Amino acid sequence: MEGLGFSFKDAMITEGDMKETVPILKKEIEQMKLASQSGYNDDRASINLPFDREAKEKVATLVTKKLELKSKYLIVIGIGGSNLGTMAVQEAVYGRSYNLLDPKIKVLFAETVDSDDINNMLSMVKKSLEKGKNVILNVVSKSGATTETITLFEVFLDLLRRFNEDHEELVVVTTEKKSKLWDLAQKRRYSLLEIPKNVGGRYSVLSPVGLFPLGLIGIDIDALLGGAKSMRETCLRENIKDNPAAESAAHIYIHNKNGKNIHDLFLFAKDLEAIGKWYRQLMGESIGKEQDRSGNQVFRGITPTVSIGSTDLHSVTQLYLGGPYDKFTTFVTVRNMNDKVNVPSISEFSDLVPNIQGRDLKEIMDAIENGVKAAYRKKKRPFMEVVLPDKKEASIGQFLQFKMMEMMYLGVLLNVNPFNQPNVESYKTKTKRILAGLDSEIDS
Ligand code: PA5
Repeated sequence: MEGLGFSFKDAMITEGDMKETVPILKKEIEQMKLASQSGYNDDRASINLPFDREAKEKVATLVTKKLELKSKYLIVIGIGGSNLGTMAVQEAVYGRSYNLLDPKIKVLFAETVDSDDINNMLSMVKKSLEKGKNVILNVVSKSGATTETITLFEVFLDLLRRFNEDHEELVVVTTEKKSKLWDLAQKRRYSLLEIPKNVGGRYSVLSPVGLFPLGLIGIDIDALLGGAKSMRETCLRENIKDNPAAESAAHIYIHNKNGKNIHDLFLFAKDLEAIGKWYRQLMGESIGKEQDRSGNQVFRGITPTVSIGSTDLHSVTQLYLGGPYDKFTTFVTVRNMNDKVNVPSISEFSDLVPNIQGRDLKEIMDAIENGVKAAYRKKKRPFMEVVLPDKKEASIGQFLQFKMMEMMYLGVLLNVNPFNQPNVESYKTKTKRILAGLDSEIDS
Protein backbone atom coordinates (compact mmCIF):
# COMPACT_ATOMS: atom_id res chain seq x y z
CA MET A 1 0.00 0.00 0.00
CA GLU A 2 1.29 3.40 -0.92
CA GLY A 3 1.58 5.71 2.07
CA LEU A 4 0.49 9.31 2.53
CA GLY A 5 3.16 11.98 2.14
CA PHE A 6 3.64 14.72 4.73
CA SER A 7 5.64 17.93 4.59
CA PHE A 8 6.13 20.46 7.36
CA LYS A 9 8.84 22.49 5.66
CA ASP A 10 6.63 25.55 5.16
CA ALA A 11 5.02 25.40 8.59
CA MET A 12 7.44 28.03 9.97
CA ILE A 13 7.98 26.15 13.22
CA THR A 14 11.48 25.66 14.63
CA GLU A 15 12.93 22.77 16.66
CA GLY A 16 12.94 25.18 19.59
CA ASP A 17 9.21 25.86 19.21
CA MET A 18 8.54 22.11 19.20
CA LYS A 19 10.46 21.48 22.43
CA GLU A 20 7.64 22.09 24.90
CA THR A 21 5.34 19.67 23.04
CA VAL A 22 7.75 16.73 23.02
CA PRO A 23 7.38 15.44 26.61
CA ILE A 24 3.61 15.88 26.54
CA LEU A 25 3.30 14.04 23.25
CA LYS A 26 5.68 11.27 24.28
CA LYS A 27 3.62 10.63 27.39
CA GLU A 28 0.43 10.53 25.33
CA ILE A 29 1.99 8.16 22.79
CA GLU A 30 2.64 5.80 25.71
CA GLN A 31 -1.01 6.10 26.77
CA MET A 32 -2.14 5.59 23.21
CA LYS A 33 -0.03 2.43 22.97
CA LEU A 34 -1.63 1.08 26.13
CA ALA A 35 -5.04 1.92 24.69
CA SER A 36 -4.14 0.04 21.53
CA GLN A 37 -3.88 -3.11 23.70
CA SER A 38 -7.05 -2.61 25.68
CA GLY A 39 -9.92 -3.16 23.26
CA TYR A 40 -12.76 -0.76 23.82
CA ASN A 41 -12.01 0.03 27.46
CA ASP A 42 -10.38 3.40 26.95
CA ASP A 43 -11.66 6.74 25.62
CA ARG A 44 -9.22 6.30 22.75
CA ALA A 45 -11.04 3.06 21.82
CA SER A 46 -11.66 4.13 18.21
CA ILE A 47 -8.01 3.46 17.36
CA ASN A 48 -8.82 -0.25 17.72
CA LEU A 49 -11.81 -0.28 15.35
CA PRO A 50 -9.81 -1.24 12.24
CA PHE A 51 -8.58 -4.36 14.06
CA ASP A 52 -12.02 -5.58 15.17
CA ARG A 53 -12.43 -8.64 12.98
CA GLU A 54 -15.65 -9.75 14.63
CA ALA A 55 -17.42 -6.45 13.96
CA LYS A 56 -16.20 -6.41 10.38
CA GLU A 57 -17.38 -9.98 9.76
CA LYS A 58 -20.78 -9.17 11.24
CA VAL A 59 -21.11 -6.19 8.94
CA ALA A 60 -19.95 -8.20 5.91
CA THR A 61 -22.50 -10.95 6.62
CA LEU A 62 -25.30 -8.41 6.98
CA VAL A 63 -24.24 -6.65 3.77
CA THR A 64 -24.42 -9.95 1.87
CA LYS A 65 -27.87 -10.65 3.30
CA LYS A 66 -29.22 -7.20 2.54
CA LEU A 67 -27.82 -7.22 -0.99
CA GLU A 68 -30.16 -10.10 -1.73
CA LEU A 69 -33.05 -7.67 -1.34
CA LYS A 70 -31.85 -5.87 -4.48
CA SER A 71 -32.75 -2.45 -3.11
CA LYS A 72 -32.66 0.58 -5.32
CA TYR A 73 -31.99 3.03 -2.48
CA LEU A 74 -30.13 3.09 0.79
CA ILE A 75 -31.31 5.85 3.11
CA VAL A 76 -28.80 6.63 5.84
CA ILE A 77 -30.67 8.38 8.63
CA GLY A 78 -28.28 10.01 11.09
CA ILE A 79 -26.57 13.29 11.84
CA GLY A 80 -23.13 14.53 12.89
CA GLY A 81 -20.83 11.70 13.82
CA SER A 82 -23.48 9.27 12.66
CA ASN A 83 -23.35 10.21 8.98
CA LEU A 84 -20.50 12.61 8.16
CA GLY A 85 -17.83 9.91 7.98
CA THR A 86 -19.94 7.72 5.71
CA MET A 87 -20.64 10.66 3.43
CA ALA A 88 -16.95 11.56 3.42
CA VAL A 89 -15.80 8.10 2.31
CA GLN A 90 -18.60 7.63 -0.22
CA GLU A 91 -17.89 10.95 -1.92
CA ALA A 92 -14.12 10.58 -1.83
CA VAL A 93 -14.11 7.10 -3.34
CA TYR A 94 -17.12 7.24 -5.67
CA GLY A 95 -17.29 10.96 -6.39
CA ARG A 96 -19.88 13.60 -5.68
CA SER A 97 -21.96 12.60 -8.71
CA TYR A 98 -22.30 8.95 -7.60
CA ASN A 99 -26.11 8.90 -7.57
CA LEU A 100 -26.29 10.40 -11.05
CA LEU A 101 -24.03 7.74 -12.54
CA ASP A 102 -26.70 5.04 -12.26
CA PRO A 103 -25.20 2.92 -9.48
CA LYS A 104 -26.83 -0.34 -8.36
CA ILE A 105 -27.86 1.27 -5.07
CA LYS A 106 -28.26 5.02 -4.75
CA VAL A 107 -27.54 6.50 -1.35
CA LEU A 108 -29.41 9.37 0.29
CA PHE A 109 -28.46 11.00 3.58
CA ALA A 110 -31.44 12.09 5.64
CA GLU A 111 -29.85 14.19 8.34
CA THR A 112 -31.84 17.26 9.25
CA VAL A 113 -35.54 18.01 9.58
CA ASP A 114 -35.68 20.27 6.54
CA SER A 115 -39.14 19.69 5.06
CA ASP A 116 -38.18 20.44 1.48
CA ASP A 117 -34.98 18.41 1.48
CA ILE A 118 -36.76 15.44 3.03
CA ASN A 119 -39.76 15.79 0.75
CA ASN A 120 -37.49 15.53 -2.29
CA MET A 121 -36.01 12.33 -0.90
CA LEU A 122 -39.45 10.92 -0.09
CA SER A 123 -40.58 11.57 -3.65
CA MET A 124 -37.59 9.73 -5.08
CA VAL A 125 -37.98 6.80 -2.72
CA LYS A 126 -41.72 6.62 -3.30
CA LYS A 127 -41.23 6.26 -7.04
CA SER A 128 -38.97 3.32 -6.40
CA LEU A 129 -41.39 1.71 -3.97
CA GLU A 130 -44.22 2.16 -6.43
CA LYS A 131 -42.24 0.17 -8.96
CA GLY A 132 -41.99 -2.63 -6.42
CA LYS A 133 -38.31 -1.99 -5.63
CA ASN A 134 -36.95 -2.28 -2.12
CA VAL A 135 -35.44 0.54 -0.07
CA ILE A 136 -33.15 -0.01 2.89
CA LEU A 137 -33.25 2.28 5.91
CA ASN A 138 -30.07 2.42 7.97
CA VAL A 139 -30.83 4.37 11.13
CA VAL A 140 -27.64 5.40 12.87
CA SER A 141 -27.64 6.97 16.32
CA LYS A 142 -25.22 6.30 19.15
CA SER A 143 -27.57 7.62 21.81
CA GLY A 144 -30.61 6.31 19.97
CA ALA A 145 -32.44 9.44 20.99
CA THR A 146 -31.39 12.31 18.73
CA THR A 147 -34.46 14.35 17.79
CA GLU A 148 -33.63 14.77 14.10
CA THR A 149 -32.74 11.11 13.57
CA ILE A 150 -35.74 9.63 15.31
CA THR A 151 -38.08 12.11 13.63
CA LEU A 152 -36.78 11.12 10.19
CA PHE A 153 -36.86 7.44 11.07
CA GLU A 154 -40.57 7.78 11.81
CA VAL A 155 -41.17 9.64 8.54
CA PHE A 156 -39.36 7.11 6.33
CA LEU A 157 -40.70 4.11 8.20
CA ASP A 158 -44.21 5.39 7.68
CA LEU A 159 -43.60 5.46 3.93
CA LEU A 160 -42.05 2.01 3.92
CA ARG A 161 -44.96 0.54 5.87
CA ARG A 162 -47.44 1.83 3.32
CA PHE A 163 -45.80 -0.30 0.64
CA ASN A 164 -44.55 -3.27 2.54
CA GLU A 165 -46.19 -4.88 5.54
CA ASP A 166 -43.12 -7.02 6.17
CA HIS A 167 -40.81 -4.07 6.12
CA GLU A 168 -38.72 -5.24 9.10
CA GLU A 169 -36.03 -6.84 6.95
CA LEU A 170 -35.48 -3.47 5.25
CA VAL A 171 -34.43 -1.73 8.46
CA VAL A 172 -30.91 -1.79 9.89
CA VAL A 173 -30.34 -0.02 13.20
CA THR A 174 -26.84 0.98 14.28
CA THR A 175 -26.68 2.14 17.89
CA GLU A 176 -25.11 1.60 21.30
CA LYS A 177 -26.06 -1.56 23.12
CA LYS A 178 -29.03 -1.06 25.42
CA SER A 179 -30.04 2.35 24.10
CA LYS A 180 -33.82 2.71 23.81
CA LEU A 181 -33.42 2.37 20.06
CA TRP A 182 -31.54 -0.90 20.58
CA ASP A 183 -34.40 -2.29 22.65
CA LEU A 184 -36.95 -1.15 20.10
CA ALA A 185 -34.99 -2.71 17.22
CA GLN A 186 -34.85 -6.01 19.09
CA LYS A 187 -38.57 -5.92 19.73
CA ARG A 188 -39.37 -5.16 16.08
CA ARG A 189 -36.84 -7.67 14.73
CA TYR A 190 -34.82 -5.07 12.82
CA SER A 191 -31.21 -5.95 12.03
CA LEU A 192 -28.91 -4.53 14.69
CA LEU A 193 -25.31 -3.36 14.66
CA GLU A 194 -23.48 -2.17 17.73
CA ILE A 195 -21.48 1.03 18.28
CA PRO A 196 -18.99 0.39 21.11
CA LYS A 197 -19.66 2.55 24.18
CA ASN A 198 -16.31 4.31 24.19
CA VAL A 199 -16.39 5.21 20.51
CA GLY A 200 -17.87 8.68 20.13
CA GLY A 201 -19.81 9.69 17.02
CA ARG A 202 -17.05 11.69 15.35
CA TYR A 203 -14.56 8.84 15.83
CA SER A 204 -16.97 6.14 14.63
CA VAL A 205 -16.59 6.06 10.84
CA LEU A 206 -14.58 2.82 10.97
CA SER A 207 -17.17 1.11 13.18
CA PRO A 208 -20.44 -0.40 11.83
CA VAL A 209 -21.63 3.24 11.61
CA GLY A 210 -19.65 3.67 8.40
CA LEU A 211 -18.86 0.08 7.48
CA PHE A 212 -22.41 -1.12 6.87
CA PRO A 213 -23.65 1.61 4.51
CA LEU A 214 -20.29 1.79 2.76
CA GLY A 215 -20.11 -1.98 2.37
CA LEU A 216 -23.64 -2.07 0.99
CA ILE A 217 -22.78 0.36 -1.80
CA GLY A 218 -19.69 -1.66 -2.67
CA ILE A 219 -16.88 0.24 -0.97
CA ASP A 220 -13.95 -2.09 -0.20
CA ILE A 221 -14.11 -1.97 3.59
CA ASP A 222 -11.09 -4.28 3.95
CA ALA A 223 -8.97 -1.79 2.05
CA LEU A 224 -10.42 1.13 4.04
CA LEU A 225 -9.61 -0.61 7.32
CA GLY A 226 -6.24 -1.76 5.97
CA GLY A 227 -5.27 1.86 5.33
CA ALA A 228 -6.42 2.86 8.81
CA LYS A 229 -4.51 -0.03 10.42
CA SER A 230 -1.21 0.94 8.84
CA MET A 231 -1.72 4.61 9.75
CA ARG A 232 -2.49 3.70 13.36
CA GLU A 233 0.89 1.99 13.62
CA THR A 234 2.60 5.03 12.07
CA CYS A 235 0.85 7.37 14.49
CA LEU A 236 1.95 5.32 17.50
CA ARG A 237 5.65 5.85 16.73
CA GLU A 238 7.64 7.30 19.60
CA ASN A 239 9.76 9.61 17.51
CA ILE A 240 7.55 12.59 16.81
CA LYS A 241 9.33 13.32 13.55
CA ASP A 242 8.16 9.88 12.35
CA ASN A 243 4.67 10.26 13.74
CA PRO A 244 2.63 12.54 11.45
CA ALA A 245 -0.42 12.78 13.76
CA ALA A 246 1.69 13.95 16.70
CA GLU A 247 3.80 16.24 14.54
CA SER A 248 0.78 17.82 12.87
CA ALA A 249 -0.94 18.31 16.25
CA ALA A 250 2.21 20.02 17.58
CA HIS A 251 2.26 22.43 14.64
CA ILE A 252 -1.42 23.32 14.97
CA TYR A 253 -0.97 23.76 18.73
CA ILE A 254 2.07 26.02 18.48
CA HIS A 255 0.44 28.22 15.87
CA ASN A 256 -2.69 28.42 17.99
CA LYS A 257 -0.60 29.48 20.98
CA ASN A 258 0.83 32.23 18.82
CA GLY A 259 -2.59 33.58 17.90
CA LYS A 260 -3.63 31.49 14.92
CA ASN A 261 -7.17 30.59 15.90
CA ILE A 262 -8.23 29.24 12.54
CA HIS A 263 -7.14 26.01 10.91
CA ASP A 264 -7.97 25.80 7.23
CA LEU A 265 -8.11 22.39 5.57
CA PHE A 266 -7.51 23.28 1.94
CA LEU A 267 -8.44 20.28 -0.20
CA PHE A 268 -7.40 20.25 -3.83
CA ALA A 269 -10.03 17.74 -4.99
CA LYS A 270 -13.75 18.41 -5.15
CA ASP A 271 -14.60 14.88 -4.08
CA LEU A 272 -12.85 15.48 -0.76
CA GLU A 273 -15.20 18.26 0.28
CA ALA A 274 -17.23 15.94 2.51
CA ILE A 275 -14.00 14.90 4.25
CA GLY A 276 -13.64 18.59 5.02
CA LYS A 277 -17.07 18.62 6.65
CA TRP A 278 -16.23 15.51 8.63
CA TYR A 279 -12.99 17.13 9.82
CA ARG A 280 -14.83 20.32 10.77
CA GLN A 281 -16.94 18.32 13.21
CA LEU A 282 -13.91 16.38 14.46
CA MET A 283 -11.99 19.53 15.29
CA GLY A 284 -14.94 21.67 16.35
CA GLU A 285 -16.41 19.18 18.81
CA SER A 286 -13.18 17.66 20.03
CA ILE A 287 -11.26 20.75 21.09
CA GLY A 288 -13.80 23.56 21.26
CA LYS A 289 -14.22 23.43 25.03
CA GLU A 290 -15.37 25.68 27.84
CA GLN A 291 -13.32 23.82 30.44
CA ASP A 292 -9.89 22.25 30.59
CA ARG A 293 -9.29 18.78 31.98
CA SER A 294 -9.21 20.12 35.54
CA GLY A 295 -12.53 21.91 35.20
CA ASN A 296 -11.12 25.45 34.86
CA GLN A 297 -13.02 27.75 32.55
CA VAL A 298 -10.78 28.25 29.50
CA PHE A 299 -12.94 28.73 26.36
CA ARG A 300 -10.42 26.93 24.19
CA GLY A 301 -10.72 26.01 20.53
CA ILE A 302 -9.54 26.46 16.98
CA THR A 303 -12.08 27.28 14.29
CA PRO A 304 -11.89 24.71 11.49
CA THR A 305 -12.54 26.02 8.00
CA VAL A 306 -12.64 24.05 4.76
CA SER A 307 -11.54 25.33 1.37
CA ILE A 308 -11.68 23.60 -1.98
CA GLY A 309 -9.06 24.11 -4.66
CA SER A 310 -9.32 25.67 -7.05
CA THR A 311 -12.94 26.80 -6.51
CA ASP A 312 -12.31 28.78 -3.34
CA LEU A 313 -9.30 30.57 -4.76
CA HIS A 314 -11.96 32.67 -6.45
CA SER A 315 -13.75 33.30 -3.19
CA VAL A 316 -11.70 33.49 0.01
CA THR A 317 -8.07 33.55 -1.05
CA GLN A 318 -7.95 37.34 -1.03
CA LEU A 319 -8.72 37.09 2.69
CA TYR A 320 -6.24 34.25 3.24
CA LEU A 321 -3.38 36.13 1.58
CA GLY A 322 -4.27 39.71 2.43
CA GLY A 323 -6.22 39.44 5.70
CA PRO A 324 -5.16 38.94 9.31
CA TYR A 325 -2.38 36.50 10.23
CA ASP A 326 -4.77 34.27 12.16
CA LYS A 327 -4.71 31.05 10.11
CA PHE A 328 -2.65 27.91 9.76
CA THR A 329 -3.36 25.88 6.63
CA THR A 330 -3.10 22.22 5.73
CA PHE A 331 -3.05 21.67 1.98
CA VAL A 332 -4.30 18.25 0.90
CA THR A 333 -3.53 17.14 -2.62
CA VAL A 334 -4.10 13.94 -4.60
CA ARG A 335 -1.24 12.57 -6.70
CA ASN A 336 -3.23 10.34 -9.06
CA MET A 337 -6.77 11.18 -10.05
CA ASN A 338 -9.05 8.33 -11.19
CA ASP A 339 -9.40 9.65 -14.71
CA LYS A 340 -7.58 11.79 -17.19
CA VAL A 341 -9.27 14.63 -19.04
CA ASN A 342 -7.32 16.47 -21.71
CA VAL A 343 -7.83 19.92 -23.15
CA PRO A 344 -8.01 19.60 -26.96
CA SER A 345 -4.60 20.23 -28.56
CA ILE A 346 -5.96 22.28 -31.39
CA SER A 347 -7.94 25.15 -30.04
CA GLU A 348 -9.50 28.37 -31.20
CA PHE A 349 -9.02 29.83 -27.75
CA SER A 350 -5.26 29.64 -27.34
CA ASP A 351 -5.07 33.43 -27.34
CA LEU A 352 -7.34 33.61 -24.29
CA VAL A 353 -5.35 31.26 -22.06
CA PRO A 354 -2.21 29.94 -23.75
CA ASN A 355 -0.21 26.86 -22.65
CA ILE A 356 -3.20 24.75 -21.64
CA GLN A 357 -3.83 23.12 -25.01
CA GLY A 358 -3.26 19.38 -25.11
CA ARG A 359 -2.66 19.19 -21.37
CA ASP A 360 -4.32 17.00 -18.75
CA LEU A 361 -6.54 18.93 -16.31
CA LYS A 362 -4.45 17.51 -13.46
CA GLU A 363 -1.39 19.26 -14.85
CA ILE A 364 -3.29 22.54 -14.81
CA MET A 365 -4.52 21.87 -11.25
CA ASP A 366 -0.92 21.13 -10.17
CA ALA A 367 0.20 24.45 -11.64
CA ILE A 368 -2.56 26.24 -9.72
CA GLU A 369 -1.64 24.45 -6.47
CA ASN A 370 2.00 25.32 -6.88
CA GLY A 371 1.06 28.92 -7.62
CA VAL A 372 -0.99 29.08 -4.43
CA LYS A 373 1.79 27.61 -2.30
CA ALA A 374 4.28 30.06 -3.77
CA ALA A 375 1.93 32.93 -2.90
CA TYR A 376 1.54 31.62 0.67
CA ARG A 377 5.33 31.40 1.03
CA LYS A 378 5.80 34.91 -0.30
CA LYS A 379 3.28 36.30 2.18
CA LYS A 380 4.73 34.21 5.02
CA ARG A 381 1.47 32.33 5.56
CA PRO A 382 2.40 29.04 7.25
CA PHE A 383 1.16 25.73 5.90
CA MET A 384 1.77 22.02 6.01
CA GLU A 385 1.06 19.53 3.23
CA VAL A 386 -0.50 16.08 3.00
CA VAL A 387 -0.33 14.16 -0.27
CA LEU A 388 -2.76 11.30 -0.90
CA PRO A 389 -1.53 8.80 -3.51
CA ASP A 390 -5.13 8.60 -4.82
CA LYS A 391 -8.72 8.69 -3.56
CA LYS A 392 -9.07 4.93 -3.18
CA GLU A 393 -10.21 3.23 0.01
CA ALA A 394 -6.74 2.52 1.44
CA SER A 395 -5.63 6.14 1.09
CA ILE A 396 -8.86 7.49 2.54
CA GLY A 397 -8.62 5.05 5.47
CA GLN A 398 -5.11 6.32 6.17
CA PHE A 399 -6.20 9.95 6.03
CA LEU A 400 -9.18 9.49 8.37
CA GLN A 401 -7.08 7.61 10.92
CA PHE A 402 -4.32 10.22 10.73
CA LYS A 403 -6.81 13.02 11.43
CA MET A 404 -8.55 11.22 14.29
CA MET A 405 -5.25 10.54 16.04
CA GLU A 406 -4.03 14.07 15.33
CA MET A 407 -7.12 15.34 17.16
CA MET A 408 -6.46 13.11 20.17
CA TYR A 409 -2.89 14.46 20.41
CA LEU A 410 -4.12 18.02 19.95
CA GLY A 411 -6.63 17.57 22.78
CA VAL A 412 -3.80 16.59 25.12
CA LEU A 413 -1.63 19.54 24.05
CA LEU A 414 -4.53 21.94 24.59
CA ASN A 415 -5.38 20.18 27.85
CA VAL A 416 -9.01 19.55 26.92
CA ASN A 417 -11.03 16.36 26.69
CA PRO A 418 -11.29 15.57 22.96
CA PHE A 419 -13.94 12.89 23.48
CA ASN A 420 -16.93 14.69 24.99
CA GLN A 421 -19.33 17.34 23.67
CA PRO A 422 -21.20 18.77 26.68
CA ASN A 423 -22.51 21.82 24.84
CA VAL A 424 -23.99 19.76 22.01
CA GLU A 425 -25.77 17.67 24.64
CA SER A 426 -27.19 20.82 26.26
CA TYR A 427 -28.91 21.96 23.04
CA LYS A 428 -30.28 18.45 22.52
CA THR A 429 -31.84 18.40 25.98
CA LYS A 430 -33.24 21.89 25.54
CA THR A 431 -34.86 20.98 22.20
CA LYS A 432 -36.64 18.08 23.85
CA ARG A 433 -37.90 20.30 26.67
CA ILE A 434 -39.22 22.87 24.17
CA LEU A 435 -40.99 20.16 22.16
CA ALA A 436 -42.51 18.85 25.40
CA GLY A 437 -43.78 22.34 26.25
CA LEU A 438 -41.70 22.35 29.43
CA ASP A 439 -39.56 25.35 28.40
CA SER A 440 -40.46 28.30 26.27
CA GLU A 441 -38.33 29.03 23.23
CA ILE A 442 -36.86 32.15 24.79
CA ASP A 443 -35.93 30.65 28.19
CA SER A 444 -32.24 30.93 28.87
O1 PA5 B 1 -19.89 13.48 17.69
C1 PA5 B 1 -20.92 13.43 18.33
O2 PA5 B 1 -21.00 12.79 19.37
C2 PA5 B 1 -22.22 14.11 17.84
O3 PA5 B 1 -22.02 14.97 16.78
C3 PA5 B 1 -23.21 13.05 17.45
O4 PA5 B 1 -22.64 12.23 16.48
C4 PA5 B 1 -24.51 13.62 16.91
O5 PA5 B 1 -25.04 14.54 17.79
C5 PA5 B 1 -25.52 12.50 16.69
O6 PA5 B 1 -25.72 11.79 17.86
P1 PA5 B 1 -26.32 10.33 17.89
O7 PA5 B 1 -25.40 9.46 17.14
O8 PA5 B 1 -26.40 9.97 19.33
O9 PA5 B 1 -27.66 10.39 17.24
